[in-house]
Parts: sequence; C-alpha cells; structure tokens
Amino acid sequence: MTDKFKLLQLKRAQAKLGGGKVRNDKQHASKKLTARERVEVLLDEGSFEEIGMFVEHRSTDFGMEKTKFLGDGVVTGYGTIGGRLVYVFSQDFTVFGGSLSETHAEKIVKLMDLAIRNGAPLIGLNDSGGARIQEGVVSLGGYADIFYRNTLASGVIPQISVIMGPCAGGAVYSPAITDFTIMVEHTSYMFVTGPNVVKTVTNEDVSSEELGGAHTHAEKSGVTHITAVNDIEALEKTKTLLGYIPQNWAAVTPKWKVELGDEYRPELDSIIPVNTNTPYDIKDVIRGVVDKDSFFEIQELFADNIVVGFARLAGRSIGIVANQPMCLAGVLDVNSSRKGARFVRFCDCFNIPLLVFVDVPGFLPGTDQEWNGIIVNGAKLLYAFSEATVPRITVITRKAYGGAYDVMNSKHIGADMNFAWPSAEIAVMGAKGASEIIFRNEIQASDDKEAKLKEKEQEYAEKFAHPYGAAARGFIDEVILPGETRRKLIKGFAMLENKKDELPPKKHGNIPL
Ligand code: HXC
Repeated sequence: MTDKFKLLQLKRAQAKLGGGKVRNDKQHASKKLTARERVEVLLDEGSFEEIGMFVEHRSTDFGMEKTKFLGDGVVTGYGTIGGRLVYVFSQDFTVFGGSLSETHAEKIVKLMDLAIRNGAPLIGLNDSGGARIQEGVVSLGGYADIFYRNTLASGVIPQISVIMGPCAGGAVYSPAITDFTIMVEHTSYMFVTGPNVVKTVTNEDVSSEELGGAHTHAEKSGVTHITAVNDIEALEKTKTLLGYIPQNWAAVTPKWKVELGDEYRPELDSIIPVNTNTPYDIKDVIRGVVDKDSFFEIQELFADNIVVGFARLAGRSIGIVANQPMCLAGVLDVNSSRKGARFVRFCDCFNIPLLVFVDVPGFLPGTDQEWNGIIVNGAKLLYAFSEATVPRITVITRKAYGGAYDVMNSKHIGADMNFAWPSAEIAVMGAKGASEIIFRNEIQASDDKEAKLKEKEQEYAEKFAHPYGAAARGFIDEVILPGETRRKLIKGFAMLENKKDELPPKKHGNIPL
C-alpha cells in the first residue's frame, strides 16, 4: 500500500470518527469505528470480499424472531494487507451488543476453516458482550467451536486478536489462545468476571478499566502484547505486526528492500559503561544493529527486564530477545521468563530466526519468586530455546552469570553462533559474591578483611570476567568488536538461511506450563 493511499484511508476514517454517520450514540461517544469501518481501515482499498452477509440468527425465544439483522452481528470475509491474503472477522456491537449467537459463531468458524486450509493469517476484531444470552447453550457451543479451531490453527497460521470493545467471560479465551492481542486504550477491556461479580465474591471495588483495561493487561498481567490510543492506531499496528510474520508455518517472511552499505557501527563501541554495574539501554544496542527504524517491540510495558520484539536485518525478519540492564539489572524472573518463552515459541513456529542479546546477572532471588514458581517459569524459557530449530545467534554484551548463561541461548542448548563482546563476563556469579564464598576462610583469617576481599575479587575477575575462557572451549565462536556486530550478524544469518534441524520423533513435548 502506498503512503498516499494510507493517508487517504486514515483521513477518511478520522472524518468518520469526528462526525460521520455512525450507527449508535454510544459508539459515537466513545469514538469507536463501526465494524465495517474497521475492516475498511485494516485492508487494502477495495480488497474486501464479504462472506455470509445474509446470515440471520435462528432464535425464537424471548421474541427474538421479530428482531433479525443481516449478518447477525459479525462481518466476515477476506481481503489483502499490502497485497497479502488475510481472513478477517469484525464484531458489530450495534447488533445485540456484538454477542455471539449460534450463527454468529458459525460464520467465524467457517472463516477459520478457510484460513487454516488456505494458509493465511486470521485477524479477529473483537467487540462483543459475550455469549448471546437469549440463546443459551448453542452460543456456548459456538464459543467452544472457535476455541477448538484457535488451538488447531496455533502454529499453522498466525492469529491476531484486536480487542476494540468488551471481551468478557469465557470469550477471553479465544484471544488468549491466539498469537497476539492488541487492545485499544479506554474503549476495550478483557476479564473473566466483571466488576459486579468481583464485588460480590471478593468485596473488591474495581472499575472495568482497572480490572481489565488495556494498561492493566499491558503492565500487570501481560495478557495484551500491544496497546493503541484508538481504533485506527490499533489497526495500523496490526498491519505493521503482520509485516514481520509469514503467511503460515511453511512460508518465508517477506524480504524488505534495504540499502546495504558500510555495516560498521562505531557508536556501539562506546555503549558499555566502564563500571560493570552501571546500566545502559539494551534498546540502543538493538537499534544500533538492526535495519533503520525496523525494531517493533512486543509487550513493551510488561516485565521490562527482558525486551522482545521483531526487527529486520538486511531486509529479513528476525525475533529479538534481550536482557535489559536498565530494569532490575536485566535479571531473569517469573514474568520475564514467561514473556521470553512465549515469544521464542512464536518465532520458532513461524520460522523467524532468533537473535539474543545477553547481559544477565542471574535469576532473581527471594520468597516471592520461589513461591511464584521461578523454577518452573525459568524452565519455560530454557525449554523454549532448547526446542527451537530456527537459526539462533547469541551476542553476550556483558554479564552471563550462572544458570542464566545456560538459559539465554547458549551453545549448549543448541544456538548456532555465539558471539561475545570483549566486555563479556562469563562466570558462575559476579566476582564479589564468588570471592565471599570460595575465599571465606582466607578473608576471615586476614587482618584487613576488606582489602583481602578486594584482592580476591580482583583475582576472580581476572580469571573469569572476560569471554576468553569460554572462547577457548568453543562455547563462544568469536569475540567481536561491538561496532562489527551488524556485519557479523548479517553474514551469520545468511550462512544459516538453509538450516535444517529436527527434534527427535515424538507426539509433542511437555513444556513445563
Ligand atoms: C445479548 C446483549 C449481550 C449479550 C449486550 N447485549 N450483551 N444481548 N447477549 N451477551 C445487548 C444489550 O441488551 C443492549 O441491547 C446492547 O447489547 C448494548 O448493551 P448495553 O448494555 O446497552 O451496552 P453497554 O452499557 O456498553 O454495556 C456493554 C456490556 C453489557 C458491559 C457488554 O451489555 C453487558 O454486561 N452485557 C452482558 C455481558 C455478559 O454477561 N455476557 C455473557 C458473558 S458469559 P439493546 O437492545 O438494549 O440496545 C459468556 C460465556 C462465554 O460470554 C462462555 C464461553 C466458554
């Protein structure tokens, strides 16, 4: 799609937001686009083909036979985004609150079957009061039919859920099974039980926004991957996300045009602070290495001690996982492990190569972490990397301590190329902690304990606080200058382009969930 056309599309949609004819006062007041406008903004102009426009509900209870609307509250069909086929459903809140009837569900199910069979992404624009209350069990069955297909489609085609209004009750489980959830701030919410039930059961007073709004799920629960200020931004971000993802598990990601020139990036040479405990922003490293303006972060507000997202390197999509020294010194904890693991598995499903930046002092200690299962959650990340068969390259920028060294895409768990910057420190733990343990008796016996500890710290650091021990063993393939990283990565991923790797035959593994 050209920029000019994109602009026209946005202007048209914005005009409608500002005062165009919308079908219901509530929708107008909340600045929500209608179901059809959303499809129009999402897809290439004129590309949408609707399926099932004449479907009506079959309910006869509660006088329902007198109120029928063509399409029964959901617009379904296919079209293109940037010329690529996608299947879309868009729930219409103005018809019975977008609630899911038997026929509404059948329309979505038909679309999902088409998407799976034809190997193209499925995008759901969700805006619904949940199961159609007048229909009872048939609408519950309809949900289950959708959940079942969400599961079958997982890892076959990309599935993206955009939440643009209510999404409550069991309905939340469809987005939860899909690959990405995008929420619109202040007009969308997701929860299993709403504020009234919460008040009755737990006596908590909480608003819908606080309980399940976009910010809650972006920062606290991690349920949503991306937030947007309004419908248009949500749809634009959906398109951007899709640009990094292939059509299905067997397809390759589209290659983007990029001007390659001098790939040396001298600004990276001075990015690591002299003091090893001084933080720096790993996103500066990421942006310094990947193609210009190509970094697209996922779950930016959740567990920000790990950074995950897509980018392009020499025009090709890659997935990035990086410890963030700016937050909790980049330590791995329950949430960052979960976040990293899910992202790694997505990339592996869809053959997107993985680039991992390591600066990690270890796992976060404490009762909170242990009682919340840091063992099983840390294991998720370890498992996800270990079973990933896509090309995998690691760059250790600074600390790679303890079990976290193993977990963060080490050579031992199947990474293809492992680089380290000269500032890398690969050890069981930091020099101070290590010296306090292994030289305890010597330090205790000393007249000047502090000076002795310093001396021993220095001794330990000289032995381990560098990458050359690991490089001598072949655990690190090369120690590279930071400025050379982009060049090395482009060559490395090109070398790995035809990688073929298979796991031992099995039905499926048993990831520690
Ligand atoms: C039928 C519904 C409906 C529903 C809303 N409507 N939800 N009709 N079934 N589930 C209708 C309303 O009657 C109203 O019709 C219109 O949609 C707009 O709804 P309002 O309440 O006026 O809108 P608003 O004030 O914005 O409130 C939206 C809402 C509220 C918060 C979603 O409607 C609501 O609480 N609805 C019920 C939610 C719910 O409990 N759903 C079932 C969840 S259980 P009129 O004709 O007056 O305009 C579930 C199980 C799934 O989904 C299980 C899967 C395993």
